[in-house]
Amino acid sequence: MIKPETIQQIFDTARIEEVVGEFVALKKRGVNLLGLCPFHNEKTPSFTVSPAKGIYKCFGCGKGGNAVNFIMDHEHYSYPEALKYLAKKYSIEIEESEQTPEEKEKQDEQESLYHVTAFAQEYFTRNLHETEEGKAVALSYLKNRGISDAMIEKFQIGYCIDKFEDFTNYAVKEGYKRKYLEKSGLTINKDGRYYDRFRGRVMFPVHSVSGRVIAFGGRILSSEKSKAKYVNSPESDIYNKSRVLYGIYHARNAILKNDNCYLVEGYTDVISLHQAGIENVVASSGTSLTVDQIKLIKRFTPNITILYDGDEAGLKASFRGIDMILEEGMNVKVVLFPEGEDPDSYASNHRSEEVEKFVQDNAKDFITFKTDILLKEAKNDPIKRAGLIKEIVQSISVIPDGIYRSVYVRECSSIMNIPEQTLMNELNKSLRKKYSERYKGQGFEHVEVETEQAEPQFKPEEDVFSADNQEKEIVRLLLNYGNRDIIFETENELGKTIEVPVKIAEFIVHDLRNDEIKLEHPEYRLIFDEYVHQLSQGVVPDENHFIQFQDSRIAKIAIDLLSDPYELSFNWAKNKIHVKQEQDNLKELVASSVLSFKAKKIDQMILANQKEMKENTSEEDAMVLLQKHINLKQVSREINKQLSRIVTK
Ligand code: CTP
Ligand code: MN
Repeated sequence: MIKPETIQQIFDTARIEEVVGEFVALKKRGVNLLGLCPFHNEKTPSFTVSPAKGIYKCFGCGKGGNAVNFIMDHEHYSYPEALKYLAKKYSIEIEESEQTPEEKEKQDEQESLYHVTAFAQEYFTRNLHETEEGKAVALSYLKNRGISDAMIEKFQIGYCIDKFEDFTNYAVKEGYKRKYLEKSGLTINKDGRYYDRFRGRVMFPVHSVSGRVIAFGGRILSSEKSKAKYVNSPESDIYNKSRVLYGIYHARNAILKNDNCYLVEGYTDVISLHQAGIENVVASSGTSLTVDQIKLIKRFTPNITILYDGDEAGLKASFRGIDMILEEGMNVKVVLFPEGEDPDSYASNHRSEEVEKFVQDNAKDFITFKTDILLKEAKNDPIKRAGLIKEIVQSISVIPDGIYRSVYVRECSSIMNIPEQTLMNELNKSLRKKYSERYKGQGFEHVEVETEQAEPQFKPEEDVFSADNQEKEIVRLLLNYGNRDIIFETENELGKTIEVPVKIAEFIVHDLRNDEIKLEHPEYRLIFDEYVHQLSQGVVPDENHFIQFQDSRIAKIAIDLLSDPYELSFNWAKNKIHVKQEQDNLKELVASSVLSFKAKKIDQMILANQKEMKENTSEEDAMVLLQKHINLKQVSREINKQLSRIVTK
């Protein structure tokens, strides 16, 4: 259990922009920050962070919350795990009792796997530096390859002793369960005999975006062809190959800073480039690139530069990767290394500045890259050249943005010396085909290509005057302005006009309670009742009281209502006007909202009463109901008169 004081300290210390900023590239927009939402796929940013309020909110998918919620959502942590994460980040001490073996067992599956991999990483590191075998074979191997101590430390490179079951035995002795050793893939169970998967290999830990070790790649030291060069951890509850990129944790900040990500193939490419000072680099680790991996990069930058070694087979395979990146609406460039070199060997044999210069000088956009390669193949064969044009146009056609498509068409036209219109025709053909496939059987076969971008979203017209929305507005005003004053003028005993400040929360709560009006919506009602309760204690709760509310339904609503779409919008010029107007007229706003809400309530009562009148036959009741009707109508008129006075003022 974490103490409430500590939880409060964590909330008070954690800065939302820093917490989110570790995972999402944020740009300043007015008083807020804006980025691409990490929770859904989007091309234009609608993910907003408000440092002042300590909250984030996506206007695309609706996700929102405070710093703790973000970590829970993003890292799939539980509440205490998220608190611990933040405590660690901000060096806040959490007192925790020593874990008993039973508690260890109770921890959930994932947590146990994280523990096992972290333990293994430390063991492998010690093996490398502190055992004779490690120093003699593995450390010297790394030194020979020119990998510096700093890189060994940074990437937590280690070594697994070449004994049958050294690691497994040690881990079991230290209290780790065979079950998790097996699940993490570190230990192999063959007919009840347990042994180490990575015997005699240099170990490269794979880190999650947040820096936890989730898997390993183990490289053999010899050049025996009969054995696999690399052995990798199998997938587990904490390791999903297709969603992970080697090096992403160490590259994050550099990717943000450079607004570009280099993509390489192997562990050693990443490490050597880091050593050469290029830190915005990740590896797909030999597997072919997946959409999830591309999306992972997209959280940090829309720009990818692929670094390829120049072997023929790899090049053709690279085309698929390029198209996938283009399909995500991202920009892709390619650097081709000289025959026989890969980023690792090039970085090892050149000075840092040379590597940097080479990469910069040789980065080609995908059209130039593809054309160069295909032209070499086609030579002057006209039929092959025609095929080549189709190939390139095919790539252009997957780009989601029409403006970019036409830019690339122009470029292609000048490189290939083909009229733009010819390419346009080819492009349209390809687009039409794509769309007729997409909408097959839906009656959209003849859909015009030009309309492909327009994906109109039909939102049902929202009734701003519905009862729910009226209640929402009341709660929104409470949350946003509850502890501000509005000034009422009144006469003192001497008949002199004086100004009396009243807290907005007090005004709203008393006014509604005087008229015995209750909120119907269950969550709005909970918030309202919390105000009633707090005010009765003499406290006007502030927004944090609700944002940090334990009951997550309340916190969620509070956050939603505190993230005014105008205020948090990236159109901050407009937003400034809106917010300013609202704040300048708080008194009128509050008064009119309360009155509209009352009017709505009265209308509902009138309708209910009319219904009862229709159903009722007894004369006596009819008289009572009629009198009630007249009274309600009177109140309604009075309220509407007051309302129109405010509105037309
Ligand atoms: N790979 C693998 N299994 C293999 C070979 C390769 O998983 N049998 C993956 C590894 O992630 C490796 C990447 O593919 O990092 C690229 O392969 P390669 O270029 O052969 O390895 P390098 O990382 O360059 O290793 P080295 O420089 O030590 O040869
Ligand atoms: Mn290599």
